[in-house]
Amino acid sequence: MTQNVLLAGATGMLGGRIAHHLLLEPEIHLRLLVRSAERPNQQALLKPLIERGAEVVQGDLSDPPSLDRATQGADVIISAVQGGPDVIVDGQVALAQSGARNGARRILPSDYGLDLFQATPGEHLMFDLRRTADEQIAATGIQQINVLQGAFMEMFAPGAGTFDDDTGTVTYWGDGTQMIDTTSLEDTARMVARIALDPGVQEGKFAFAGDRLSILDATKVIEAQTGRTFKHLVMGTEAELRAAHSQALQETSHPFAAVLLAYQLYMLIGQTNLSHLQNGRYPDVPLENFTQFAARALPQRRTA
Ligand SMILES: NC(=O)c1ccc[n+]([C@@H]2O[C@H](COP(=O)([O-])OP(=O)(O)OC[C@H]3O[C@@H](n4cnc5c(N)ncnc54)[C@H](OP(=O)(O)O)[C@@H]3O)[C@@H](O)[C@H]2O)c1
Repeated sequence: MTQNVLLAGATGMLGGRIAHHLLLEPEIHLRLLVRSAERPNQQALLKPLIERGAEVVQGDLSDPPSLDRATQGADVIISAVQGGPDVIVDGQVALAQSGARNGARRILPSDYGLDLFQATPGEHLMFDLRRTADEQIAATGIQQINVLQGAFMEMFAPGAGTFDDDTGTVTYWGDGTQMIDTTSLEDTARMVARIALDPGVQEGKFAFAGDRLSILDATKVIEAQTGRTFKHLVMGTEAELRAAHSQALQETSHPFAAVLLAYQLYMLIGQTNLSHLQNGRYPDVPLENFTQFAARALPQRRTA
């Protein structure tokens, strides 16, 4: 039977890939909630999806009537939005409420990360927002699935932060040996498309990871792939990171500084590592490990 899926965030980095993989599934009608399809880059992103059968409904998470139009007839709602409290809490809760009113069966909120439910309240603003949203979504009675896949492998590609392409430096706190769950963006999107449509998936966390490796392991893989050697820049100990994080939490004018340090802290101490991985649920969706990701996505070592 055809499943009607509503996706919010299709013009975003992850949402666009989720839309692509949903459209490969049989027996699906895909509707996209789009704020405005007028910006040229949005048109370019949406055109191939529309050509493959996706329907666009103009709307905004801050505009409840538009959500009621978008959720009409939807069986499953997927959110891949990004933003502050107005989007992540108020907007996603309004979307779930609208879905519940219109008889939607299931929602996947925009979680997609480390196990945010293991975070200490007040330490990580982005995790707090998602947990708050998820609690309020639960109150709507709609079935909720929280997809958790760790950090995107792309975050460890040179140039994305940890590995600095220009200076040839890998930067971390501690000794670089803590294991971190990680999955490529593409595999995350592929899994989201399958999980969303799978009637057998239970409510609650659905965790998976393409790899679990340390910063030191990732450095070896990247060096082998690119032929470059990265200098190690150690920012400090766990105690020093905690002190910097506490200080950043006090300085409320730059909340994102505290968020970045909270990500570093949880990756260093493993507090939000994933558990009960369901990697093997879809045997036809093998998850690439970090070495395979590097071979696909990073430049190859030059041979003389
Ligand atoms: N684990 C990781 O390493 C990792 C890394 C990156 C992201 N993520 C997660 O993945 C999710 C998606 O992130 P992303 O980077 O793909 O986001 P993004 O590229 O910034 O895209 C955000 C999307 O949300 C839409 N949106 C924002 N506000 C909206 C509103 N009021 N109404 C309707 N749509 C709205 C945007 O629409 P417009 O085009 O109109 O702006 C856009 O389509 C987030 O939960 C994020 O935390 C995880």
